[in-house]
Amino acid sequence: MIVFDQENRIFTLHTLNTTYQMKADRYHMLLHTYYGSRIDDCDLSSLIRCEGRSFSPNPDEAGSNRDYSLDVMPQEYSTCGVGDFRLPSIELELPNGSHTADLRYEGFRLEKGKYTLEGLPGFYCAGDEAETLVILLKDFAAQVTVELYYGVFEAVDLITRAVRVVNQGREKVRICRCESLCLDFLRSDLDMITFNGHHLMERCLDRGPLRPGIQSVGSVRGTSSHQHNPFVMLCDRDADEDMGLCYGVMLLYSGNFEAAVECSQYENSRLVMGIHPYHFCWTLNSGEAFTAPEAAMVCSTGGFGQMSRQYHRAIRAHLIRDPYNGRRKPVLVNNWEATYFDFTADSLVGIAREAAALGIELFVMDDGWFGSRNDDNSGLGDWQVNQKKLPGGLKALVPRIKALGMKFGIWMEPEMVNEDSDLYRAHPDWVLHVPGRAPSRGRGQLVLDFSREDVRDCIYGQMKEVLASAEISYIKWDMNRSLTDVWSAGLPARQQGEVYHRYVLGVYDLLERLHHDYPHILIEGCCGGGGRFDGGMLYYTPQIWCSDDSDAIDRLRIQYGTSFCYPVCTMGAHVSAVPNEQNGRVTPLKTRGIVAMSGAFGYEMDLGKCTAEEKREIGSQVESFKTHYELLHHGDYYRLGSPFQDNAYTAWEQVSPDRREAIVNVVLGCTHAAPPFRTLRLKGLHPAYQYQIDGSDALYSGETLMKAGYPLPQMQGDYPAFQFCLKAVG
Ligand code: DGJ
Repeated sequence: MIVFDQENRIFTLHTLNTTYQMKADRYHMLLHTYYGSRIDDCDLSSLIRCEGRSFSPNPDEAGSNRDYSLDVMPQEYSTCGVGDFRLPSIELELPNGSHTADLRYEGFRLEKGKYTLEGLPGFYCAGDEAETLVILLKDFAAQVTVELYYGVFEAVDLITRAVRVVNQGREKVRICRCESLCLDFLRSDLDMITFNGHHLMERCLDRGPLRPGIQSVGSVRGTSSHQHNPFVMLCDRDADEDMGLCYGVMLLYSGNFEAAVECSQYENSRLVMGIHPYHFCWTLNSGEAFTAPEAAMVCSTGGFGQMSRQYHRAIRAHLIRDPYNGRRKPVLVNNWEATYFDFTADSLVGIAREAAALGIELFVMDDGWFGSRNDDNSGLGDWQVNQKKLPGGLKALVPRIKALGMKFGIWMEPEMVNEDSDLYRAHPDWVLHVPGRAPSRGRGQLVLDFSREDVRDCIYGQMKEVLASAEISYIKWDMNRSLTDVWSAGLPARQQGEVYHRYVLGVYDLLERLHHDYPHILIEGCCGGGGRFDGGMLYYTPQIWCSDDSDAIDRLRIQYGTSFCYPVCTMGAHVSAVPNEQNGRVTPLKTRGIVAMSGAFGYEMDLGKCTAEEKREIGSQVESFKTHYELLHHGDYYRLGSPFQDNAYTAWEQVSPDRREAIVNVVLGCTHAAPPFRTLRLKGLHPAYQYQIDGSDALYSGETLMKAGYPLPQMQGDYPAFQFCLKAVG
């Protein structure tokens, strides 16, 4: 609900459990007054206090009033160069060379439903599930308007934000920074939580107190990156899974980003998040507009778990698009770790045949099927079937897979090219490169200049031919290097600061075309695993390969960190062979199954090499996944134990919305002789319900299971795991 108090010019955004407020003051500055637990009928501007502070300048309108300074008051969208020395939200370069932005409140409008952003991903709604507020700020000297967009999703406690900058003057201006969000707090006794890592170990949680100065994470790799995720949290120092105030902020963007928090001199703090200012400079001609990507905030007063569940609900219902926002996605088998580049049509059909017999529904042919691709040195850019490897092409192969009752999926890496390819030989200027410099390679490949429409058209033309040649139900869209040598032959020198962002817009453009032309095709995002796991990609690709590390124990950490923002149904997770390809670890098949089932489930191994007993176990895993799919993927998610803090076990639980069913997953770390007896306290159950566990006769009340716990069985061997189901009776 959006409430406007006209007399006091106060805007209050209420969600079910939270309130967000801002106020246009007497000098037409838009101040941020509050974000937190819901407060009805409120004017929270009295929380903002000012008094004269040396070295904090006063704006001209304040006249002799030295108590008023932008430098100490919480701003809704901070300015630059005019008296607030903390992190700016916007930086403009005006034709006279000045770098200032001075924004004053000009007006607002309310819209039904949720705004959309042209060419950019965003949360969406049906009918009146959300409302929009647009606040207009203006820099009068620059003749630039800044529109602040707010989308209020009341039921899921989500508020989205975006910013549109319009040049209403006659001369060009340049935008050197344009944050998607600025969030000021009248306190700095907060912890910051970020999700960091590297290729093969993404999104590991890190928590630490704010300290004076600026703390930030971000990416200048052209992708949102393996190293830092565009999702950050701020929380009470004592907040934990189940209690305390915490704020989550996610950026729906797949390129360079920065999330920075400044803890200022008077112990206030400010979080800004948006496109990374590195090599970003956008020229705005007279009459043109620039839109910064969307950010989405959740505030929880019930700890991290509640925040995650709100994000999960919102992402499932308002970000993942039809037809995959509710429908069960097929269990897949992927041949990558089974064969790498070394396969034939017969060996692929062999894997598919074994998989079909075990109830697996989709066969995915990974890298190596096209051009001259027999290793990773050649072929990218030539999206025609390698007839030597697959005689008769997809026309011959796909019907063989379909005859097994399976769907067929294919791997592609549309943004990349190898120098050893027909595409590169014909168009060497189509890659990102700086004239006069030899470009850096990554995995031996170069990056196509996706900021150019002609380049995208050519790739899309090739993709369409592939898709027309056979019945294809799934695409794995991969991307296997970071961007370097970012310069485009398609833009003049003054606009080279636009290339990083135009590249991302180009990727979104092609993904949107695919989604529009082939809505039934399920696209799985991938970037060497989870190097582009973000809300932007999820709008186009309802699942993303979570990591190239498929080891179940490493995956506990990766999937745990990922779960803080992103729901289980978005995390590509496969059972692979042991010893694991990435770390050599041997884990039980059961453990691998339990971990992968809490993800977009599949297998990535040569099933023909499994013993009869293993096949039986895989068959029953697939069956169990299908039976419990609704609960596993759409249930409310509770973290019961962290893989970082608790060596004894990692546990998590999914609970049905009516709390009548739950599934509990437990993975033990190191086992020891004569281990202590442990109990596991569950969460999210109905205290008064009586639950049956795995159909046995004994009944446990929800209250007992949550307060006293469930006795964990004693287990032996390396990394054992178990799963049990609760059903309310009566
Ligand atoms: C990286 C991906 O993450 C892998 O799953 C696989 O598809 C390879 N690329 C193929 O080159």
